Amino acid sequence: MSNKIYPVDADYAATTRVTRAQYEALYQESVTDPEGFWARTAQRIDWIKPFSQVKDVSFAADDLHIRWFADGELNVSANCLDRHLATRGDKTAIVFEGDDPADSRHISYRQLYEDVCRAANLLRNLGIRKGDRVAIYLPMIPEAAVAMLACARIGAVHSVVFGGFSPDSLAGRIADSQCKLVITADEGLRGGKKVALKANVDEALTRPGTTSVETVLVVRRTGAPIAMQTPRDRWWAGLVEEQSAECAPEPVNAEDPLFILYTSGSTGMPKGVLHTSGGYLTYVSYTHECVFDLREDDVYWCTADVGWVTGHSYVVYGPLANGATTVMFEGVPNWPDISRFWRVVDKHKVTIFYTAPTAIRALMREGEEPVRRTSRASIRLLGTVGEPINPEAWEWYHRVVGDGRCPIVDTWWQTETGGALITPLPGATDTKPGSATKPFFGVIPAIVDTNGVVQEGACEGNLILTDSWPGQMRTVYGDHKRFVDTYFRTYPGAYFTGDGARRDADGYYWITGRVDDVINVSGHRIGTAEVESALVSHPKVAEAAVVGCPHDIKGQGIYAYVTLKAGENGSDELRKELVHWVRKEIGPIASPDYLQWAPGLPKTRSGKIMRRILRKIAENATDQLGDTSTLADPGVVQNLVDQRLIRS
Ligand code: WT7
Repeated sequence: MSNKIYPVDADYAATTRVTRAQYEALYQESVTDPEGFWARTAQRIDWIKPFSQVKDVSFAADDLHIRWFADGELNVSANCLDRHLATRGDKTAIVFEGDDPADSRHISYRQLYEDVCRAANLLRNLGIRKGDRVAIYLPMIPEAAVAMLACARIGAVHSVVFGGFSPDSLAGRIADSQCKLVITADEGLRGGKKVALKANVDEALTRPGTTSVETVLVVRRTGAPIAMQTPRDRWWAGLVEEQSAECAPEPVNAEDPLFILYTSGSTGMPKGVLHTSGGYLTYVSYTHECVFDLREDDVYWCTADVGWVTGHSYVVYGPLANGATTVMFEGVPNWPDISRFWRVVDKHKVTIFYTAPTAIRALMREGEEPVRRTSRASIRLLGTVGEPINPEAWEWYHRVVGDGRCPIVDTWWQTETGGALITPLPGATDTKPGSATKPFFGVIPAIVDTNGVVQEGACEGNLILTDSWPGQMRTVYGDHKRFVDTYFRTYPGAYFTGDGARRDADGYYWITGRVDDVINVSGHRIGTAEVESALVSHPKVAEAAVVGCPHDIKGQGIYAYVTLKAGENGSDELRKELVHWVRKEIGPIASPDYLQWAPGLPKTRSGKIMRRILRKIAENATDQLGDTSTLADPGVVQNLVDQRLIRS
């Protein structure tokens, strides 16, 4: 924890959209009169039919419902496109920066509008109707945004699956929401390497449960020869060209689903987080404007992939609803060289730069020179998201990347929350390195102790939210019970975030990380249960337990304890094979960093694995194993301590 305070920059204080005094007054209003506050704020979007109801929410587990602007109608794509045409038709909506630095282009709002209309007409002609689910498995290319907005235009529900996920992960997501159509590319391109997206789709569609898919649309990205199955597979480009560039937007209800996005939880397989239309768009556009203190001529770059919620809310929907210029970057920070981010900043004169702590830590390791050799003079604001940022990385980001001139907004939120909930506003909030600072308008955080008692003043415990905000997820797709059980049972009447937090004497929040069985690897969520089930699906594995461990660059790494079946030998080859197996089953982000052979796992007498002990061993805090008296076989622990891995 750092005690340093960075006061609000004087230029920001003078010119900001939200001053300190306004923040205090508006925050008060937003929590004492949420109806009035959000009814006014929701006027920022265009409604086809105005709403008369604002907030209709109960967090009670036996009567859980979350509805905002429930009788209003709108179209999300019309809000992101049509309404800008009169004043911003020629303004750049998307700056595409390809993996290859020579490959970039600008797409105006008018061009994007036409592309989306054509794609929407194509989806309609292929039989996609309001409410149908469409899987999008694309690289970071403009077609990803076009596909999302085309779904929104006709009221179809998109489910974007990150291009780094395996065929099995893709298949599970397609099957869970019974997608009728998949939009993919021949191959992806990242850091000069190719990703066989279409081949992955082909493999996914051989898995059980995926027969709902009628059509696969294929965007040509690399031009690689790929197998096309008739009549299922169709080329995107040829079909899109034939369509009309006008497509009437489908009016949808505020509470009609906009998208499903799968995210990992503490148990079982990833859940389909469902976001709806009116409240989500209001919330992401408003937070995007306030948190980044958005100006008409900003060039805004969020480095997240559209496969994650950050890409949905702050690459696509928030910026486009605000008529902003948003950068879509296909590549990686260290290719062709380690200065790539800053070269892109200089090339496109980026003014707002938003990335993840893991990227900052990885670049920090390479020293200052690769940053210093670029100008970065265009940047005026920096942001971070995805995981706690350690004060050293914050300071480096501020001093080296921002040349000491740019405020940093550390935005805490989750896939479930739709948009940023705890965050500084650059003209209103003094910052402290490592703290996400204060709640956004309408957000009421609280910290509870282990008994669920709300703590006052400076304290530490579990982070809950005691009232709703319009961007909140509405349900787990197809499993409302799981929604209620996961988020609303632990602390009755409140939403449980799964995070721990500290609040200091100034009322600042410091997120300490997940308190459940979710690991945050480089800002990506992985459930320990998913990695365990991948491991035990290997024929030689009897049992596995997976925990998070500290990792210098990734924030958290994955530490797996594996018990082999009788007669199997824990060799280095088998260790490599199992790591590879998990990559193949889930995707590269789930690769264990450490894999330790465990002749036995520490269990209670009733057979429950004691993860607390495994976590301590993984973080090399073997002097803090705590009470081991309930162990069925205490000898198991000593063996694991002795065999602890330094690195895999
Ligand atoms: C988890 C949510 C927010 C979109 C990207 C990740 C952690 C996120 C911060 C932050 C500390 C953070 C939390 C949260 N997290 N932002 N600024 N400071 N921790 O979304 O995959 O749903 O993960 O990421 O642990 O619960 P996600």
